[in-house]
Amino acid sequence: MDDKGLFISLEGIDGCGKSSIIAYLNSKLDPDQLVNIREPGGTVLSEIIRDMLLNDECNYNMEVETEALLYAAARSQVVTQVIKPALLQGKMVLADRFIDSTIAYQGYGRGLDIPYLQAMNRFCTGGLKPHLTILLDLEPELSYSSRKSQAPDRIEREGMDFQKRVRWGYLQLAAAEPNRITIINAAQDFDRVSQLVLVRVQQAIDEQKE
Ligand code: TMP
Repeated sequence: MDDKGLFISLEGIDGCGKSSIIAYLNSKLDPDQLVNIREPGGTVLSEIIRDMLLNDECNYNMEVETEALLYAAARSQVVTQVIKPALLQGKMVLADRFIDSTIAYQGYGRGLDIPYLQAMNRFCTGGLKPHLTILLDLEPELSYSSRKSQAPDRIEREGMDFQKRVRWGYLQLAAAEPNRITIINAAQDFDRVSQLVLVRVQQAIDEQKE
Protein backbone atom coordinates (compact mmCIF):
# COMPACT_ATOMS: atom_id res chain seq x y z
CA MET A 1 0.00 0.00 0.00
CA ASP A 2 2.91 2.33 0.67
CA ASP A 3 4.87 1.99 -2.56
CA LYS A 4 4.32 5.64 -3.53
CA GLY A 5 5.92 7.19 -0.46
CA LEU A 6 9.25 6.80 1.28
CA PHE A 7 9.50 5.88 4.94
CA ILE A 8 12.74 6.65 6.77
CA SER A 9 13.40 6.19 10.48
CA LEU A 10 16.26 7.40 12.64
CA GLU A 11 17.40 5.35 15.59
CA GLY A 12 20.07 5.34 18.27
CA ILE A 13 20.70 5.42 21.98
CA ASP A 14 19.70 8.45 24.04
CA GLY A 15 21.95 11.42 23.28
CA CYS A 16 23.20 10.06 19.92
CA GLY A 17 22.41 13.35 18.12
CA LYS A 18 19.20 12.27 16.36
CA SER A 19 17.38 15.57 16.89
CA SER A 20 20.14 17.65 15.30
CA ILE A 21 20.32 15.31 12.31
CA ILE A 22 16.55 15.47 11.85
CA ALA A 23 16.67 19.28 11.98
CA TYR A 24 19.45 19.19 9.39
CA LEU A 25 17.48 16.88 7.08
CA ASN A 26 14.50 19.19 7.39
CA SER A 27 16.66 22.09 6.23
CA LYS A 28 17.76 20.11 3.15
CA LEU A 29 14.60 18.27 2.02
CA ASP A 30 11.48 19.60 0.30
CA PRO A 31 9.15 20.64 3.15
CA ASP A 32 6.04 20.05 0.99
CA GLN A 33 6.99 16.40 0.63
CA LEU A 34 8.05 15.79 4.21
CA VAL A 35 6.04 14.52 7.19
CA ASN A 36 7.90 14.39 10.52
CA ILE A 37 6.83 12.21 13.40
CA ARG A 38 8.46 11.33 16.67
CA GLU A 39 7.88 8.17 18.67
CA PRO A 40 6.28 7.90 21.03
CA GLY A 41 4.03 10.67 19.73
CA GLY A 42 2.76 12.12 16.49
CA THR A 43 -1.00 12.06 17.19
CA VAL A 44 -2.99 13.60 20.04
CA LEU A 45 -3.45 10.22 21.73
CA SER A 46 0.15 9.14 21.08
CA GLU A 47 1.42 12.37 22.70
CA ILE A 48 -0.75 11.66 25.78
CA ILE A 49 0.79 8.16 25.90
CA ARG A 50 4.23 9.79 25.53
CA ASP A 51 3.53 11.79 28.67
CA MET A 52 2.54 8.60 30.49
CA LEU A 53 5.81 7.00 29.43
CA LEU A 54 8.27 9.84 29.85
CA ASN A 55 6.75 12.53 32.08
CA ASP A 56 7.64 11.85 35.71
CA GLU A 57 4.26 13.04 36.95
CA CYS A 58 2.42 10.37 34.93
CA ASN A 59 4.29 7.09 35.22
CA TYR A 60 3.97 5.83 38.79
CA ASN A 61 5.89 2.56 39.22
CA MET A 62 5.38 1.56 35.60
CA GLU A 63 5.93 -2.14 34.94
CA VAL A 64 8.13 -3.03 31.97
CA GLU A 65 5.29 -4.93 30.30
CA THR A 66 3.05 -1.87 30.65
CA GLU A 67 5.83 0.23 29.15
CA ALA A 68 6.14 -2.05 26.10
CA LEU A 69 2.38 -2.07 25.54
CA LEU A 70 2.14 1.71 25.79
CA TYR A 71 4.88 2.21 23.19
CA ALA A 72 2.97 -0.20 20.95
CA ALA A 73 -0.32 1.62 21.54
CA ALA A 74 1.22 4.98 20.65
CA ARG A 75 2.73 3.40 17.51
CA SER A 76 -0.52 1.86 16.39
CA GLN A 77 -2.21 5.28 16.42
CA VAL A 78 0.51 7.10 14.51
CA VAL A 79 0.85 4.36 11.89
CA THR A 80 -2.86 4.38 11.06
CA GLN A 81 -3.56 8.08 11.43
CA VAL A 82 -0.38 9.66 10.06
CA ILE A 83 2.23 7.38 8.50
CA LYS A 84 0.11 5.21 6.20
CA PRO A 85 -2.00 8.12 4.86
CA ALA A 86 1.16 10.16 4.19
CA LEU A 87 2.82 7.27 2.34
CA LEU A 88 -0.31 6.76 0.28
CA GLN A 89 -0.04 10.40 -0.78
CA GLY A 90 3.53 9.77 -1.90
CA LYS A 91 5.13 11.80 0.90
CA MET A 92 8.38 11.13 2.68
CA VAL A 93 7.86 10.21 6.32
CA LEU A 94 10.80 10.93 8.61
CA ALA A 95 10.37 9.12 11.91
CA ASP A 96 12.35 9.95 15.03
CA ARG A 97 12.36 6.30 16.26
CA PHE A 98 10.12 3.40 15.20
CA ILE A 99 9.90 -0.40 15.65
CA ASP A 100 13.64 -0.90 16.26
CA SER A 101 13.46 1.23 19.43
CA THR A 102 11.10 -1.30 21.00
CA ILE A 103 13.38 -4.24 20.22
CA ALA A 104 16.49 -2.37 21.36
CA TYR A 105 15.04 -0.79 24.54
CA GLN A 106 12.32 -3.17 25.74
CA GLY A 107 13.98 -6.29 24.28
CA TYR A 108 17.73 -5.89 24.73
CA GLY A 109 17.52 -3.14 27.38
CA ARG A 110 14.71 -4.45 29.60
CA GLY A 111 15.09 -8.13 28.76
CA LEU A 112 11.54 -8.72 27.47
CA ASP A 113 10.95 -11.56 25.05
CA ILE A 114 12.15 -10.39 21.61
CA PRO A 115 9.99 -12.69 19.42
CA TYR A 116 6.96 -11.49 21.39
CA LEU A 117 7.95 -7.84 20.85
CA GLN A 118 8.46 -8.49 17.14
CA ALA A 119 4.96 -9.96 16.92
CA MET A 120 3.62 -6.97 18.85
CA ASN A 121 5.35 -4.63 16.40
CA ARG A 122 3.72 -6.47 13.49
CA PHE A 123 0.37 -6.24 15.24
CA CYS A 124 0.53 -2.49 15.73
CA THR A 125 2.06 -1.62 12.34
CA GLY A 126 0.28 -4.15 10.13
CA GLY A 127 3.77 -5.24 9.09
CA LEU A 128 4.87 -1.78 7.92
CA LYS A 129 8.63 -1.27 8.09
CA PRO A 130 10.74 1.72 7.08
CA HIS A 131 12.36 1.53 3.64
CA LEU A 132 15.49 2.90 5.27
CA THR A 133 16.61 3.15 8.89
CA ILE A 134 19.61 5.23 9.86
CA LEU A 135 21.26 4.00 13.03
CA LEU A 136 23.34 6.75 14.62
CA ASP A 137 25.76 4.56 16.47
CA LEU A 138 27.50 5.97 19.51
CA GLU A 139 29.14 4.51 22.58
CA PRO A 140 27.06 5.44 25.64
CA GLU A 141 30.13 6.96 27.31
CA LEU A 142 30.29 9.53 24.50
CA SER A 143 26.57 10.20 24.52
CA TYR A 144 26.68 11.02 28.21
CA SER A 145 29.34 13.67 27.67
CA SER A 146 27.15 15.42 25.08
CA ARG A 147 23.90 14.99 27.01
CA LYS A 148 21.34 17.76 26.70
CA SER A 149 21.14 20.11 29.66
CA GLN A 150 17.52 19.25 30.58
CA ALA A 151 16.84 16.68 33.30
CA PRO A 152 16.99 13.07 32.10
CA ASP A 153 13.66 11.27 31.61
CA ARG A 154 12.72 7.89 33.09
CA ILE A 155 14.43 5.87 30.34
CA GLU A 156 17.57 8.04 30.28
CA ARG A 157 17.94 7.52 34.03
CA GLU A 158 18.35 3.75 33.51
CA GLY A 159 22.07 4.44 33.23
CA MET A 160 25.13 3.29 31.35
CA ASP A 161 24.69 -0.49 31.43
CA PHE A 162 21.16 -0.15 30.11
CA GLN A 163 22.31 2.13 27.25
CA LYS A 164 25.10 -0.36 26.46
CA ARG A 165 22.57 -3.18 26.11
CA VAL A 166 20.39 -0.94 23.92
CA ARG A 167 23.34 -0.11 21.69
CA TRP A 168 24.27 -3.78 21.42
CA GLY A 169 20.65 -4.52 20.49
CA TYR A 170 20.70 -1.95 17.72
CA LEU A 171 23.90 -3.44 16.32
CA GLN A 172 22.28 -6.90 16.32
CA LEU A 173 19.28 -5.52 14.45
CA ALA A 174 21.54 -3.81 11.89
CA ALA A 175 23.48 -7.04 11.37
CA ALA A 176 20.22 -8.93 10.79
CA GLU A 177 18.82 -6.40 8.30
CA PRO A 178 21.78 -4.72 6.59
CA ASN A 179 19.73 -3.68 3.56
CA ARG A 180 17.27 -1.70 5.65
CA ILE A 181 19.51 -0.43 8.46
CA THR A 182 22.53 1.74 7.69
CA ILE A 183 24.94 2.30 10.56
CA ILE A 184 26.55 5.71 10.76
CA ASN A 185 29.29 6.41 13.26
CA ALA A 186 27.85 9.30 15.27
CA ALA A 187 31.11 9.93 17.12
CA GLN A 188 32.40 11.90 14.11
CA ASP A 189 31.92 15.66 13.91
CA PHE A 190 28.47 16.91 13.04
CA ASP A 191 29.32 18.06 9.49
CA ARG A 192 30.60 14.61 8.60
CA VAL A 193 27.69 12.73 10.22
CA SER A 194 25.07 14.98 8.61
CA GLN A 195 26.71 14.63 5.17
CA LEU A 196 26.78 10.84 5.43
CA VAL A 197 23.14 10.76 6.47
CA LEU A 198 22.08 13.11 3.66
CA VAL A 199 23.92 11.06 1.03
CA ARG A 200 22.21 7.86 2.24
CA VAL A 201 18.78 9.54 2.32
CA GLN A 202 19.30 10.96 -1.18
CA GLN A 203 20.23 7.48 -2.38
CA ALA A 204 16.97 6.11 -0.94
CA ILE A 205 15.03 8.91 -2.67
CA ASP A 206 16.71 8.08 -5.99
CA GLU A 207 16.05 4.35 -5.59
CA GLN A 208 12.41 5.06 -4.88
CA LYS A 209 12.10 7.01 -8.15
CA GLU A 210 13.60 4.19 -10.26
P1 TMP B 1 13.32 10.69 22.65
O1 TMP B 1 12.12 11.28 22.01
O2 TMP B 1 14.16 11.71 23.34
O3 TMP B 1 14.09 9.81 21.73
O4 TMP B 1 12.76 9.79 23.87
C1 TMP B 1 12.04 8.64 23.68
C2 TMP B 1 12.48 7.64 24.74
O5 TMP B 1 11.64 6.48 24.67
C3 TMP B 1 13.91 7.15 24.52
O6 TMP B 1 14.55 7.00 25.78
C4 TMP B 1 13.72 5.79 23.89
C5 TMP B 1 12.42 5.32 24.48
N1 TMP B 1 11.68 4.38 23.63
C6 TMP B 1 11.55 3.06 24.03
O7 TMP B 1 12.05 2.67 25.09
N2 TMP B 1 10.82 2.21 23.24
C7 TMP B 1 10.22 2.61 22.08
O8 TMP B 1 9.57 1.80 21.39
C8 TMP B 1 10.38 3.99 21.67
C9 TMP B 1 9.74 4.48 20.40
C10 TMP B 1 11.12 4.83 22.48
